Amino acid sequence: MPSVYIETYGCQMNVSDSELMYGKLQAEGYETSDSPVGADVVLVNTCAIRENAEQRVIGRLGELRRDLKPGAVLGVTGCMAQRLGPRLLETDTRVQLVVGPDAYRMLPALIDGARNGERFTATDFDLEEHYEDFTARRFEGVKAWIPVQRGCDYRCTYCIVPTTRGPERSRRLAEVVRETHEVVAQGITEVVLLGQTVNSYHDGRHDFADLLRAVGGVDGIRRVRYTSPHPNDFSDRVIAAMAETASVCEHVHLPMQSGSTSMLKRMLRRYTREEYLACVERLRAAIPGLGLTTDIIVGFPGETDEEFEDTLSLCREVRFDDAFTFKFSAREGTPATRMPPEWTVPDATVDRRYDALVATVRGIAREKNMARLGARVEVLVEKEARKGELLQARSRDFKTVLVPGTPELIGSYLRVELTGTTGATFTGATVQERSALPMAG
Ligand code: SAH
Ligand code: SF4
Ligand code: F3S
Repeated sequence: MPSVYIETYGCQMNVSDSELMYGKLQAEGYETSDSPVGADVVLVNTCAIRENAEQRVIGRLGELRRDLKPGAVLGVTGCMAQRLGPRLLETDTRVQLVVGPDAYRMLPALIDGARNGERFTATDFDLEEHYEDFTARRFEGVKAWIPVQRGCDYRCTYCIVPTTRGPERSRRLAEVVRETHEVVAQGITEVVLLGQTVNSYHDGRHDFADLLRAVGGVDGIRRVRYTSPHPNDFSDRVIAAMAETASVCEHVHLPMQSGSTSMLKRMLRRYTREEYLACVERLRAAIPGLGLTTDIIVGFPGETDEEFEDTLSLCREVRFDDAFTFKFSAREGTPATRMPPEWTVPDATVDRRYDALVATVRGIAREKNMARLGARVEVLVEKEARKGELLQARSRDFKTVLVPGTPELIGSYLRVELTGTTGATFTGATVQERSALPMAG
């Protein structure tokens, strides 16, 4: 049997796409390989979100060229493949296949051609494509990524995703529910619904509120998460569905990008500082104990000291549990690249602001986490932790908790007391709840 190895970069959408590609190729008679060395087919599933994401891939392709066995097919898939198309075949002569996110159905045929020495680019968008007949080959035993929407119809001025993923389209609710039943049958109890603006989901008949209730109600599902929502798509219906569906976890990853209304306008985020804050308040009012995380960009063109201060002050006002922070990266063809060159923020200023933002975010997270010590929470054990005899588990509100225990516990739910924190993650001790003990005689 020929073997295939896929190396994945970027977001969970790419992780999920790799699972679909593995599943498809397995169905076509390939076996999966956990190393590129010796594999007959090597695919690099790429991300284009920032310049450094692409640089990593270019470097990696250079390394792979040395590791590949003679005659092995090397292909590039994902967002960078879509963005660069045939240019990738020109810059890297070892690459034989360039396949974008809507063309994975063609992979088996393209690979056959490549094994005969041909080279192909396949980057057409297909608005009907949801790979419904593919069976994902899942590697994580505890939770399942389930794509519910592909593409994006927003046009944030910094962002390459609309170019690499095409227009927004939603899977049919019935298909998502079908896949949820399938993963339950495999012993999985947590699902993460994926989409670029996942709460704008609409399959023509059902909205995201319907989807949350339908997936959350599937027998055997104990936890439902989703990522990433857009603040403008949090209708009252969606918030009510989240609050009323017991399996939907008390966590929202709500990208803020900036705390300055003038900056948000240049980013074309379509909300103001006040509207973002109002969204947070509606969510917190409806869902007690809500964990809140975010994405923030510093150094977007024209960012003034006042605008950056507004970002810091909104972080202090909201008090996020965690934030992913990014330095702005200019992406070819995006509206941000057509802004006046004098708006470019000098590197030294970006670095200084970035450090200040990270310090602010971490300080708040630490304070919030310290205040949680002693609390008792339910965690799902996900995997072995990197250090010691510990297991890595996660609370419903998305905190990482390290607990003692042996690998048989992976996949089970434990009640733990939060006993320590590094500021970012927790250590916990298993507790026996009084109600779970047999009645004293
Ligand atoms: N669809 C998601 C975001 C996907 S990209 C959403 O709208 O929330 C993940 C994060 O990468 C974004 O939230 C943003 O913070 C960051 N990002 C996107 N483009 C970027 C760029 N050109 N430079 C720096 N960071 C960027
Ligand atoms: Fe990019 Fe904006 Fe779409 Fe998110 S909503 S993927 S940031 S264009
Ligand atoms: Fe990257 Fe594409 Fe995801 S650009 S972040 S892999 S949608």
